[in-house]
Amino acid sequence: MKRAVYPGSFDPMTLGHLDIIVRAAEIFDELIVSVLNNKVKTPLFSVEERVKILEEATKGMPNVKIDSFSGLLIDYAKENDIHVVVRGLRAITDFEYELQIAQTNRVLSEGQVDTIFLTTNLEYAYLSSSSVKEIASFGGDISKCVPEYVAKLTYEKYGICKQNL
Ligand code: PNS
Repeated sequence: MKRAVYPGSFDPMTLGHLDIIVRAAEIFDELIVSVLNNKVKTPLFSVEERVKILEEATKGMPNVKIDSFSGLLIDYAKENDIHVVVRGLRAITDFEYELQIAQTNRVLSEGQVDTIFLTTNLEYAYLSSSSVKEIASFGGDISKCVPEYVAKLTYEKYGICKQNL
């Protein structure tokens, strides 16, 4: 059985993330989307909230499981017998960072964990969770960036009430 993990902060999950999830789920028998519980960063959404958002988005996808992890990704992969990491590449600016992480993980895992990149759908190439948060914090329109229920939750975090949501 081909299993893979798609790790990330998902703070919050965007349509770009969802596109990668849908496509990776078609390639692998089982895809585990795992939210990093990063003690260093202060996220907008708690790990539990991010997991819930991902569960809602993937409820019609039987081979997708949602989880969370802390610590090193390679340790999580080893504990769960996973040898493939999926990451999305939006543009050349992502490449250096992603290449470094992928190579580090391969070396740290002694060749046991490889990374596969899916190029982001052009429609979402400009998207990032950071820009979604910034736009929402000023009351801007994030309807093309995240599912409607995620938009509602994001505006709520900033105390913004949108009538049409
Ligand atoms: O969505 P993000 O924030 O770009 O995801 C980054 C992530 C979670 C893939 C990466 O930060 C990660 O795997 N962190 C866990 C710690 C780790 O394993 N670090 C070693 C690689 S340098």
